[in-house]
Amino acid sequence: MMAEAIEPISTSLAVGIAAAVTGFLARYPNVLYFFQECCRPEWISYNKTGAGLALGTKLYNYLVETCNEHWIGFNATGLEEDLQSKLFGQHVASRVLLKAVTGFMSSQEPKKPLVLSLHGWTGTGKNFVSQLIAKNIYQRGMTSSFVHLFTATAHFPHEAKLETYKMDKMHPGLIDSIKPYLDYYDQLDGVSYRKAIFIFLSNAGGENIVQVALDFWKAGKEREEIQLKDLETALSLSVFNNKNSGFWHTSLIDKNLVDFFVPFLPLEYKHVVQCGRAEMISKGLEFNEEAVVQMARDMNYFPRNERIFAMQGCKVIPSRLDFYI
Ligand SMILES: Nc1ncnc2c1ncn2[C@@H]1O[C@H](COP(=O)(O)OP(=O)(O)OP(=O)(O)O)[C@@H](O)[C@H]1O
Ligand SMILES: *[C@@H]1O[C@H](CO)[C@@H](O)[C@H](O)[C@H]1NC(C)=O
Repeated sequence: MMAEAIEPISTSLAVGIAAAVTGFLARYPNVLYFFQECCRPEWISYNKTGAGLALGTKLYNYLVETCNEHWIGFNATGLEEDLQSKLFGQHVASRVLLKAVTGFMSSQEPKKPLVLSLHGWTGTGKNFVSQLIAKNIYQRGMTSSFVHLFTATAHFPHEAKLETYKMDKMHPGLIDSIKPYLDYYDQLDGVSYRKAIFIFLSNAGGENIVQVALDFWKAGKEREEIQLKDLETALSLSVFNNKNSGFWHTSLIDKNLVDFFVPFLPLEYKHVVQCGRAEMISKGLEFNEEAVVQMARDMNYFPRNERIFAMQGCKVIPSRLDFYI
C-alpha cells in the first residue's frame, strides 16, 4: 500500500479500499489503479474560502493539487494522441479504452464508476496505458494525490515464482472484498464514487489472447485485422474457467460490474524495436538504431519454433538497452 503524501480532501474511499485489500496485497501480487473522483460540489467549494483570501487561495490552488481545472481536467485529444503515438501494437485495446474513458468522462452524471479490466501477456502495456489515462486526467499524472495504486508486485520475492506470477495477479478474495466499492453505490461513507475509475490489471486470459494472435498469424492475416469480437470469447472463457483468476467465484461478471474487458495482444519484434526507440528518446540518448535492433534481436520470442511474440514484451527494455549503447 502506497503512502499518500498529500491529502487535500477526505479520502475515506481510499482508506476503505486500503483496509479491504491490505491483507491480500501482503501475500499476493495484485495491481489495481483507482482514479478518485474529483467532482463533488463540497470539494470544489473548498477552493472558495472567501473573497478576502482570494489571492492567497489562488496561489494555494496552483501550488497544492486541489479539485480545480488547473489540476484536473480530462483531455480527450491528448489521450487519443498518446494512444496513437505511444502505445504500440495494441489497436484493439486503444480503441476500447479511448471510447470507454472518453464516454465516461463526458457523462455528467454517471450511474456508477467506470471499471476496466485489462488482460494480457506480461509487458504489453497494461500499466503503461493506465499511466497515459492518468496523465490525461490529472496534471500530475500518476503522482496525483487522486491516483491510488494498489500493488504487491514490487515486493514479489523470487524470480523462481515467475510462473505463478504469470498466471494471474488478482487473488480471488481481493475482488470480492472490494466489490462494494465497484457496485452501484451512490453513497458509501457519505461519499459519492460515481466519477471514479477503477483499472484492474491481470494476466488472466493472456494465453488465450496469444492463441488468437497466433491463429491469425498462421492464417496469414494481418494483426490489425484482429477485432475485439475475435478476442472476446477467448477472454471470457479463460476468465471464467481459470480457477486462479480473480473473477472466479465472484459475482462481478454476473452483475455486469466490469464495464470493459480490454485485451492486450502479445508484442512482436517490430514493437520491441519501437519500444526501444521510444526508450532512447525518453532517456534523451543519441539515436542509435543499430543498438535498438541488436537488443530486439537478442530478446526471447515464443512459440519456440515460430518465434513471433516477445516473451517479456517491452518490459525489460529500459534496463536491457543500457547494455547495447
Ligand atoms: N504496447 C506498448 N507500447 C509502448 N510501450 C510499451 C508497451 N508495452 C510495454 N511498454 C513499455 O514497457 C514498460 C512495461 O510495460 P507495462 O508495465 O505496461 O506492462 P504490463 O502489461 O503492465 O505487464 P505486467 O502484466 O507484467 O504487469 C512500459 O512502461 C512501457 O515503457
Ligand atoms: C490536450 O492534449 C493536446 C495533445 O497532447 C495538447 O496539445 C493540448 O494542449 C492539451 N490540452 C490541454 C487543455 O491541456
